[in-house]
Amino acid sequence: MNSVSELLSAASREIAAAGTAEALEAVRLQYLGRKGLLTAILRTLKDLSDEERRTVGASANEARERIESLLSERQEVVAPTVAWFDTTVPGSSRTVGHLHLVTEAIQDITQIFSELGFTRVRHPEVESDWYAFEALNMPPDHPARDEWETFFMAHEARGGERFILTPHATSGTARAISTGPVPIRAINIQKCYRRQSDVSHTPMFHQFDGVYVAEGVTVGHLKGVLEYFVKAYFGQDREVRLRPFHFRFTEPSFEVDISCGVCNGKGCRLCKQGWVELGGAGMLHPNVLRAAKLNPNKVSGLAFGWGVERTLLMRQGLGIPDLRLLYENDIRFLNQF
Ligand code: DAH
Repeated sequence: MNSVSELLSAASREIAAAGTAEALEAVRLQYLGRKGLLTAILRTLKDLSDEERRTVGASANEARERIESLLSERQEVVAPTVAWFDTTVPGSSRTVGHLHLVTEAIQDITQIFSELGFTRVRHPEVESDWYAFEALNMPPDHPARDEWETFFMAHEARGGERFILTPHATSGTARAISTGPVPIRAINIQKCYRRQSDVSHTPMFHQFDGVYVAEGVTVGHLKGVLEYFVKAYFGQDREVRLRPFHFRFTEPSFEVDISCGVCNGKGCRLCKQGWVELGGAGMLHPNVLRAAKLNPNKVSGLAFGWGVERTLLMRQGLGIPDLRLLYENDIRFLNQF
């Protein structure tokens, strides 16, 4: 009996003193191991009288339980058990989204033109007939209006003016030059609307339209701006060509072509002659400057504009066969980029 309680107090002292898992294991073996001190006492029980066996047995078993619990408490202190995990099992990764392709393109375009000093501006999508057409040298009933496939609003404004979903971002350019002050250097990027839908057109799309008005602005500046953009967005090896064209709001007017990225301008099945069409540009028509209360004899302005989606799709290697895919919001499509 005595020795059991002595053994217990010795064991608890030694357990408390054990500073490592190894030391603790040594204590465990010393008392509870096959040849341990307490084990030896338990082995002698069979030689005792019934009476003694009951009391010694009970206290020896109590001592064993006590030692075991002291051991496991101390174990937590000297070597806390770490939940075991298999480092080779693949982790569960979080899905990280990204901006929509068109948003990314708008950011890229904004960035490139900002390097040339163009400030991004925004203008209403529901636009007055004045800024969308009249201020751009397209008087009421002019046949040039026909090509815009316009969505008209059901209600007229006070004074009878018609409002429309703007068919091009050039309406924002008309606004920008009418608010001044000169010099004006702005790029309007916004949603536009036309009654159209096929592989390269959606009824809602985005355009950017840039304008620079100051004294002495020439076609040379226009070409410089366009070249800067094309090389920054499509690559340094791409060339720009201005092809004479007609727009009501610019004179002279051009269509902007860039050298084909597939054949590098040599001519291939896709481009035929080595060039692909990018968009429109020109020098603001004197009537447009006058409509903005600017004097065409003092200032001149360059302008350019075309579709964001179109620009995006012309970027090499994207391989998007149908522009409408951009707006179907099919995550399987969008995830590819
Ligand atoms: N707004 C024209 C369109 O939607 C494109 C355009 C042509 C914009 C010439 C311009 C420009 O700023 O100068 O087709």
